Amino acid sequence: MSKFKSIEWVDGVVRMLDQRKLPTETVYNDYATYAEVVQAIKDMVIRGAPAIAVAASYGLALTSSRSQAVGVDALKSELATAMDALRGSRPTAVNLFWAMDRMEALITDPSLGSVSALKDAILSEAHIIAKEDVEINKSIGMKAMPLVPDDATIIHHCNTGSLATADYGTALGIIRMAHEQGKNIFALLDETRPRLQGGRLSAYELKEQGVPFKVIVDGASGHYMRRHGVDLCVVGADRVAANGDTANKIGTYNLAVVAHENGIPFYVAAPTTTIDMATKHGDEIEIEERPASEITHVRKCQITPDDVEVGNPAFDVTPSKYITAIITERGVIYPPFEENLAKLMNVEEDND
Ligand code: MRU
Repeated sequence: MSKFKSIEWVDGVVRMLDQRKLPTETVYNDYATYAEVVQAIKDMVIRGAPAIAVAASYGLALTSSRSQAVGVDALKSELATAMDALRGSRPTAVNLFWAMDRMEALITDPSLGSVSALKDAILSEAHIIAKEDVEINKSIGMKAMPLVPDDATIIHHCNTGSLATADYGTALGIIRMAHEQGKNIFALLDETRPRLQGGRLSAYELKEQGVPFKVIVDGASGHYMRRHGVDLCVVGADRVAANGDTANKIGTYNLAVVAHENGIPFYVAAPTTTIDMATKHGDEIEIEERPASEITHVRKCQITPDDVEVGNPAFDVTPSKYITAIITERGVIYPPFEENLAKLMNVEEDND
């Protein structure tokens, strides 16, 4: 486990490590209402697709555990209001919607007909979602190990580690596991403009884990691929469409195209909860546009002239033709993605 916790339920509040302040300050904030959790997700106190899902689940648990409702219908109506707000916190990561759908199934479950039964069920489901996330991430790592050579230089984009999940991480979890298994791993961390999740957060995690790495600017990855022998790229995902097109942190598409040009394998690591079979292809994925200040300023320091026009899409979509394979907790999925993702997801439905 990591020395820090991205998110935890502690004595009836949700405790989050404030990722805006890392790596220079380690500050934990406590949240007591769903509205505070919504704001924390919007402000990126917590971020990363699986971590957002866990945060929203605990946000809902705050509502139910603190509710004064005397009847189950009144409780359900409070939960519906909270769920709507939590769903509206960020648009691109599908894990958030998956978690809320899972909670909604409890709210509509006729067997949970009392206030206390529903309250217990919501809180225990939030705990299960958090616990499962860690197990899933470790399984992703295990499935990925045959793809990581003993001596490997790996490019990673954004942050996908313990901070972006309940713990361990997806793509960064693969790097971590390979290192823990004694492989001679060197990571090249894209700093990941504009919020620098790579330079601040991934570097913070790998430093703590003792994994050798170097932070590079996003635009340097092509240079490293041509000149320095990169073995593979691995990134996370916020939403994978049914045809394999993948929304992830802005800059992922550029990285994938350059990897393709250089004949370097490009892997997406994601739990099956990130696969959205209802979205046929990447053009259907809503891309969050974030505030201009993320581009015009680095923390409080202004770096552009006053009043410049800014475009700040938080994510891009990598067409599946640039993706070598999608590594999930249930296996490594290769093209044709449309067919193989459908098979993967149908197995889950059959088992339900
Ligand atoms: O805007 P963020 O920081 O929430 O974006 C996070 C990413 O793009 C991650 O790489 C992605 O969520 C995968 S998280 C395991």
